[in-house]
Amino acid sequence: MNLTLAFLCSMMKITGVILLLVGLVLVSRAWAFNANCKEGKKCERNMTIAQFFSAEDFDTLFPQRNLPVAHAAGFWNHYDFIQAAAMFEPLGFCTTGDLMMQKIELAAFLAHVAHETTCGWSVAPKGPFAWGLCYKEELSPDSLYCESSDEYPCVPGISYHGRGAMPVYWNYNYGKVGNYLKKDLLHRPDWLATNATLAFQAAIATWMLPMRPKQPSCHDVMTGKWVPTKNDTLNSIYPGFGMTINILNGFVECGHGDDIRMIDRVSHYLEFLELLGVGRDNAGPYTGCGLQKVLYTPFDKS
Ligand SMILES: *[C@@H]1O[C@H](CO)[C@@H](O)[C@H](O)[C@H]1NC(C)=O
Ligand SMILES: *[C@@H]1O[C@H](CO)[C@@H](O)[C@H](O)[C@H]1NC(C)=O
Ligand SMILES: *[C@@H]1O[C@H](CO)[C@@H](O)[C@H](O)[C@H]1NC(C)=O
Repeated sequence: MNLTLAFLCSMMKITGVILLLVGLVLVSRAWAFNANCKEGKKCERNMTIAQFFSAEDFDTLFPQRNLPVAHAAGFWNHYDFIQAAAMFEPLGFCTTGDLMMQKIELAAFLAHVAHETTCGWSVAPKGPFAWGLCYKEELSPDSLYCESSDEYPCVPGISYHGRGAMPVYWNYNYGKVGNYLKKDLLHRPDWLATNATLAFQAAIATWMLPMRPKQPSCHDVMTGKWVPTKNDTLNSIYPGFGMTINILNGFVECGHGDDIRMIDRVSHYLEFLELLGVGRDNAGPYTGCGLQKVLYTPFDKS
């Protein structure tokens, strides 16, 4: 090889390295631009859920759902979840804040879904938290879950047992969610066990809407929109995953220490944070509700 050629070669190598470095800087800046919409800085473009949560990710969180032993095998899938979420993304569902906050909200929401639909057990294959979306409705309910209601009266003979991804129980809840989604769920509660898009929509509606007057929605809690009052903090009620448990089922699971169902929800949450690449260290404070005053008991109802 003559000198000129050697010189040219080394120049090309250097140019290659420089181009590579420039490329890396551009890519990482573009990434930071998308992922890093920190306080104050305005984000030009919000990511949709599908942009950071793929069908493979869905399978990673719910790997056992299509096994023959799963009661809802073949029913739940990523496509229906994304279809359902599209209705709520403009309202901020998993599109609020930076990518970390988006993933934390998604982990929290799906942790409740998994807890409520799991058929896993402590030594189940792939671990106890791999069995979410095993069910789509309550098997052998022992009641019609009908309570007299002027607003949402029961249709005679129809059962309002638990159905869906974050199961809806009782006529008045079917009525409320159906009203919001503009579906006549009072006559057709069964749709939540036959239409996976609708079932996910009902679950996300439950997450996005305040369940009761003067209470925040789970969404507002996980995105930091809800600020506790002095009275709340006097009752050990702080923002965190634990507050979402209190909203959804506090009467049963909160306020009496280490409730096993509460712990199962928290464990799913931590596991999902890990699987989504957020890490359990970013779970935030107050993941449990064992010390919180129960927000609501059925006896409070007027
Ligand atoms: C878009 O992202 C910004 C910045 O993270 C956030 O404040 C805003 O709430 C997001 N938009 C919606 C509709 O949630
Ligand atoms: C299932 O529900 C979705 C969302 O409400 C609706 O758009 C779709 O038409 C329903 N599918 C069937 C087969 O009824
Ligand atoms: C204070 O908080 C408790 C527990 O959440 C609630 O039951 C009570 O109604 C609250 N009181 C006031 C005045 O808001």
